[in-house]
Amino acid sequence: MHQGCAAVLCVLAVLGLEVAALGECELARLLQDKLRYEMRLQYMKHNFPIDYTLRVQHEEVLRTANVTRLRDGKVSEASLRYLWFHACSQAVLHILEVLPEKHPSRGYTQELSQLLDALGVEYSGYRQSDVDAVVADLVKQLHSGDSRQKAVRPKALLDNCLKVLRMLFGAHCRWDSA
Ligand SMILES: *[C@@H]1O[C@H](CO)[C@@H](O)[C@H](O)[C@H]1NC(C)=O
Repeated sequence: MHQGCAAVLCVLAVLGLEVAALGECELARLLQDKLRYEMRLQYMKHNFPIDYTLRVQHEEVLRTANVTRLRDGKVSEASLRYLWFHACSQAVLHILEVLPEKHPSRGYTQELSQLLDALGVEYSGYRQSDVDAVVADLVKQLHSGDSRQKAVRPKALLDNCLKVLRMLFGAHCRWDSA
């Protein structure tokens, strides 16, 4: 099952206003808190079998090195945040898909998904023309479900989510570089 942008927007439509009313930086900050080390360790590693991996598309694995390369290619910061949002949302949806209803990591993953959905409101107004072509292509591939796949540990997916979040939102949101 591949839930793309359409599903994200559906959820946004019914999401309570409480979270949706927050701005981009506040939501990114909440995500950063939720992605802190002890939580990633507990929910994405200890609660999973040893060496558990999921299969995801290559484009879902967005590392800081990717972002550096794209920055060197003069991709705009807004486009990079848009790409990060799609890669991270897709990763979280994939983790959610493998978790049974009563799995101890399910609530946590659902909360991440809700925060990302709320953040998606910020980006839902982007049109193809607002995003750099290279990023538009990556986002399209990411949702196409037909590119090469790769086995990745769930924690590694969220490690990347957090590292890239810090890289892209730190200066943008003027967070202390602590
Ligand atoms: C990041 O780089 C790797 C190769 O190092 C590539 O497989 C992957 O598709 C890239 N991801 C994005 C989102 O560009």
